[in-house]
Amino acid sequence: MSDRLFIFDTTLRDGEQVPGCQLNTVEKIQVARQLEALGVDVIEAGFPISSPGDFNSVIEISKAVTWPTICALTRAVEKDIDVAAEALQAAKHKRIHTGIGTSDSHIRYKFNSTREEIIERAVAAVKYAKRYVEDVEFYAEDAGRTENEYLARVVEAVVKAGATVVNIPDTTGYCLPQEYGEKIKYLMEHVDGLSAGKAILSTHCHNDLGMATANTIAGVMNGARQAEVTINGIGERAGNTSLEEVAMILRCHKGIGIDTNINTQKIYPTSRMVSSLMNMPVQPNKAIVGRNAFAHSSGIHQDGVLKNVQTYEIIDPKDVGIDDNAIVLTARSGRAALKHRLSVLGVEMSGERLDATYQEFLKLADKKKEVNDDDILMLAGADRAAAHAVKLDYLQVTTGLGVRSVACIGLDIAGEKFEASASGNGPVDAAIKALKNIIKRQMVLKEFTIQAISKGSDDVGKVHMQVEYDGHVYYGFGANTDIVTASAEAYIDCINKFKK
Ligand code: KIV
Ligand code: ZN
Repeated sequence: MSDRLFIFDTTLRDGEQVPGCQLNTVEKIQVARQLEALGVDVIEAGFPISSPGDFNSVIEISKAVTWPTICALTRAVEKDIDVAAEALQAAKHKRIHTGIGTSDSHIRYKFNSTREEIIERAVAAVKYAKRYVEDVEFYAEDAGRTENEYLARVVEAVVKAGATVVNIPDTTGYCLPQEYGEKIKYLMEHVDGLSAGKAILSTHCHNDLGMATANTIAGVMNGARQAEVTINGIGERAGNTSLEEVAMILRCHKGIGIDTNINTQKIYPTSRMVSSLMNMPVQPNKAIVGRNAFAHSSGIHQDGVLKNVQTYEIIDPKDVGIDDNAIVLTARSGRAALKHRLSVLGVEMSGERLDATYQEFLKLADKKKEVNDDDILMLAGADRAAAHAVKLDYLQVTTGLGVRSVACIGLDIAGEKFEASASGNGPVDAAIKALKNIIKRQMVLKEFTIQAISKGSDDVGKVHMQVEYDGHVYYGFGANTDIVTASAEAYIDCINKFKK
């Protein structure tokens, strides 16, 4: 019988902090429901005091989800805890996640405080949160660089104050796996409340040196019984530990004797959904969910796999929900087939929204022979653009070798039509210059990436852009079988986000 590792998913909090990955409340509910179907134990739904959007999302996710515990983040500040408790009211199972920095640099530079005062503030925050909820998790921010002896005193004090879970974040992704494992072991051996089963330890590892998953597993093998993770490993900077890696390591290495409640066949659809809603491509060689994770291209490997898949494959792709025979929709597929496929992918759609998406699906299916899951998720998110004030009406570009590209563009700005043309150093440059002849603002394109969604020359291109305007950087996204149109759409998406 395996020991149980609780999976705490922070895609909607730590993951969502990534610039350009922000979701609206409806999208967050969609992800939360998918996480519930995936079998996570805890969903960190947001940081309610940080914005009205986060506050509302925690309320709505609390109503939408039944089984997982809903967790809200706070600083060790009473007002934060009041607001988190209010946002969590409707949750069937609720947790407040409060904490403070414990490393010497946090204590000195962030708080201008002392070690003793930090322990007092930590204990006060846990006791205050306990007035609202039974389940209180404490995080010792920058625990990775906190001296073990002092950390043990912090953990002991917060467990005594009533913390049910103590999170040991490697906030800067600095630790080596052995060092992080030893930290967890030290705490397990030196904190009375832990051996007495009053609280469990949680890992929370960042990936700055590419060691987040290794550190998490080292922590788990040394006694931690909760792992904080995100889908696709998204998160600030180099990201967080990825859920799919931890779940599959424990499934593959049964000898560790620890397992999770994750329904692994939902891993791939969840990965696609998060990538699509957050406009965050998954690197092709990403473990478990990358496009190439199960693609054997060298002759020797292909030969071995054809003789017996176990020669080079340690995971059956079907076990993580990758089905080569997955239904692909075509121009002959009906509305019901689209509705069904959307539902399999975790998107419930009906009525006018389904009608509109079906019309877009037919247009895409005319251009592409087969419409795959990524295309469908992209279409499902396309209605986000419908409410924009600036819309692309038409775009015509003449380009080729040895000629200067020329673009004519038509925009609909709050119902009024505008047209302009321009020539440029390539079709995208011409299109953006034409657009700037209508929208005459000081805008600078800072970043521009194009990626194909799947394979084939008829594929949909996804474009991510960052445009600087008035001292702020705005993130935009566009997707189209025509990459010049996708680029114009991404630029327009940025413009629609301008604050003034
Ligand atoms: O990385 C970190 O330290 C965190 C805490 C707020 C839990 O995300
Ligand atoms: Zn973090």
